[in-house]
Amino acid sequence: MYVCLCKGVSDKAIRQAVAQGARSWRDVREQTGCATQCGKCACMGKTIARNAMAQCALEQGVAEQSAAMRQPAMLTDLAYAL
Ligand code: FES
Repeated sequence: MYVCLCKGVSDKAIRQAVAQGARSWRDVREQTGCATQCGKCACMGKTIARNAMAQCALEQGVAEQSAAMRQPAMLTDLAYAL
């Protein structure tokens, strides 16, 4: 769905900007152009960006937790090797 009619920015484009490294509303605005003309889309764009950032942080946290859970197994393997 289009979020920003002035610049033709979709919710997908905002999520993609976050997936590609945008970590603030300012980053999203700079990368997509969303809310850089009339500004009527700012509230919706910001909400979508914040949700995408939260989702991204959650996925990153799960990935780090999974890596941390694998760590002891690797140390155990190393202990057996010695
Ligand atoms: S609708 Fe986004 S700047 Fe106008």
